[in-house]
Amino acid sequence: MGTVILVASGKGGTGKSMFSVNIGATFALREKSVVIVDMDMGLRNTDLYLGLENNVVYDAHDVMTGVCRIKQALIRDERFRDLCFMGASPTREMGEITPLHVKVLCEKLADMFDVVIVDAPAGIDDGLVVASAGADAVVILTTPEYASIRNADTLDKELVKLGIFKRYVVVNKIIPELMQAGYVPGLDKISGLLMPEIIGTILYDDNINISINLGIPIVLKPSTYIRRNFEMIAARLEERCLPEELL
Ligand SMILES: Nc1ncnc2c1ncn2[C@@H]1O[C@H](COP(=O)(O)OP(=O)(O)OP(=O)(O)O)[C@@H](O)[C@H]1O
Ligand SMILES: [Mg+2]
Repeated sequence: MGTVILVASGKGGTGKSMFSVNIGATFALREKSVVIVDMDMGLRNTDLYLGLENNVVYDAHDVMTGVCRIKQALIRDERFRDLCFMGASPTREMGEITPLHVKVLCEKLADMFDVVIVDAPAGIDDGLVVASAGADAVVILTTPEYASIRNADTLDKELVKLGIFKRYVVVNKIIPELMQAGYVPGLDKISGLLMPEIIGTILYDDNINISINLGIPIVLKPSTYIRRNFEMIAARLEERCLPEELL
């Protein structure tokens, strides 16, 4: 039985989809079987970030409404030993999708894969309630800005209400010069403002932006500091979230 990890943020544009793609790819490079599920209905991007946008025939909505079987909506990423992707529906209409539909889908995927990454929509509305329904753990993405941190804290409190107790923070888009100069909150300050443990930090790097636009997960490039960093974050998540038999 695998683990379902939700990737969420209070504020939009913090890097959830970038993180989902690269942490999923990193787990796959670490010999785990992985599926990345895009649950950002209507504002989906993850297919583009993986360069798989032309391969999506059926999506998660189709699976949950019984239009197709799970296997028909799983798109294999041939660059990896065992990485699949499931797209989000192109419309925002959730229709008859309830949290229970997502919970059941996640349970079935966790039977098939070691790690299920769910890329959530930004914010704390119904989209989050639905996307988080099957989550065993959550990674909350924030940037080092007070607005983003405050929204991360609000999200964190919602996640507690939703019964998700394994919650971790990743601080993304760090520009060290700005942090050192005190123009943006430092990690000590951020960790004082947020309840969950900070399990990773990611620098602002144009190469990340470029790779996203090219549809190539940046961790595919060997021997970069970015890949080593994602390896470290993946190892910490494995330690905290994966059942012993999968370590
Ligand atoms: N560390 C980084 N360095 C440089 N650019 C980054 C970094 N992280 C993310 N980006 C860029 O920021 C933008 C937003 O990232 P992304 O789409 O992953 O955010 P998101 O949280 O999924 O957004 P949304 O809330 O709209 O779903 C993208 O253009 C991405 O390439
Ligand atoms: Mg996104």
